[in-house]
Amino acid sequence: MTNHDASAAVERLYNTYPFPPEPLLDEPPPGYNWRWNWLAAYSFCTGQKPIQQDIRILDAGCGTGVGTEYLVHLNPEASVVGIDLSAGALDVAKERCRRSGADRVQFHHLSLYDVEQLEGEFDLINCVGVLHHLPDPIRGIQALAGKLAPGGLMHIFVYAELGRWEIQLMQKAIALLQGDKRGDYQDGVKVGRMLFESLPENNRIVKREKERWSWENQRDANFADMYVHPQEIDYNIETLFELIDASGLEFIGFSNPSYWQLERLVGKNEELLERAKGLNSREIYRLIELLDPEVSHYEFFLGRTPLVKADWSTDEELLGAIPERNPCMDGWPSKSLFNCDYQIISLSEDELEFLQACDANSEQQRTVGQILMDGKLGLEGVRSLLKQQLILLTPG
Ligand SMILES: C[S@@+](CC[C@H](N)C(=O)[O-])C[C@H]1O[C@@H](n2cnc3c(N)ncnc32)[C@H](O)[C@@H]1O
Repeated sequence: MTNHDASAAVERLYNTYPFPPEPLLDEPPPGYNWRWNWLAAYSFCTGQKPIQQDIRILDAGCGTGVGTEYLVHLNPEASVVGIDLSAGALDVAKERCRRSGADRVQFHHLSLYDVEQLEGEFDLINCVGVLHHLPDPIRGIQALAGKLAPGGLMHIFVYAELGRWEIQLMQKAIALLQGDKRGDYQDGVKVGRMLFESLPENNRIVKREKERWSWENQRDANFADMYVHPQEIDYNIETLFELIDASGLEFIGFSNPSYWQLERLVGKNEELLERAKGLNSREIYRLIELLDPEVSHYEFFLGRTPLVKADWSTDEELLGAIPERNPCMDGWPSKSLFNCDYQIISLSEDELEFLQACDANSEQQRTVGQILMDGKLGLEGVRSLLKQQLILLTPG
């Protein structure tokens, strides 16, 4: 297939099955994804709260606008642009945003490849589940990088091959059985569903589908997106970093950092940890995915220089910083709440007291040092709150 034909096939898939097929609501969507909240994302990437909030955001390959709608509602001063190859998906995205009152958004029927046609640059570019469906992802990421403002951030999600092995097998099996009906996506879904019904229960592909994907795949749009896709490139750490390096941007870090901890896997063995110290960060990532091949996607932030980072390593800097509570938490105010990743956490009395003082701080502008004088939390406690993404800091 030529690149042009591949893009046309992708467009037809998403016109047939706009994705994601989430229902439309008459109110803002519930909860948050901190990666779409500029304050939380910027703080994660740089250690400090951004100065500006009236930013421009691009949702590149926005599909039916589920992420776009969150980007509008979670960033009340931002203006958002969504682009997509599929006119059918864009129609749903427009209606979704109209119904929930997300009005600071514009949509354009445009390929990532042609993104330079948009006016100006963007402070945050979100590109989730898209680059791996381009016949030339490097050209796509380079086009996006050209629209990222200096000091801006890009959030990307692409597929990982190790945890999608069974999916790849099923995709190939469906294609073989479809023969010259390939490209008829409804027929592909029918063949795939028949296969899952026919295969023995203890079959490896069936087991994986049941344990990991079947809940979301009840909807045909999800099933088609997974098993009947005409264009998909799955990455491993080595090929992922080829893509990242080609972007010319800085790799800031994975946005699901808990997966990328070697201690989680071999932490009980000092000698293995010691040996791993000789590896560079990419080799460590590779080691982690080899040892835990469940990984089915990579999600990460890239940045364009100059990105000023604060590590708060000196006590003086930290004492002079102005703290606020991270808006991405659920169940506040309480000692038991959901953190930005919706994990339940328990706060100590001292942590709760510090966060309550932070809450009043958008007006009072007290420093960490001033707040600590009134409570029992120490500087290490403040560092721990920052690491857990519970507070945002502005340099004093
Ligand atoms: C799996 S969906 C992801 C939608 C959305 N980003 C999300 O995560 O909910 C992939 C989307 O990328 C779009 N897409 C694929 N290739 C594209 C391209 N070259 N330019 C713009 N959009 C593209 C598809 O039309 C589809 O809507």
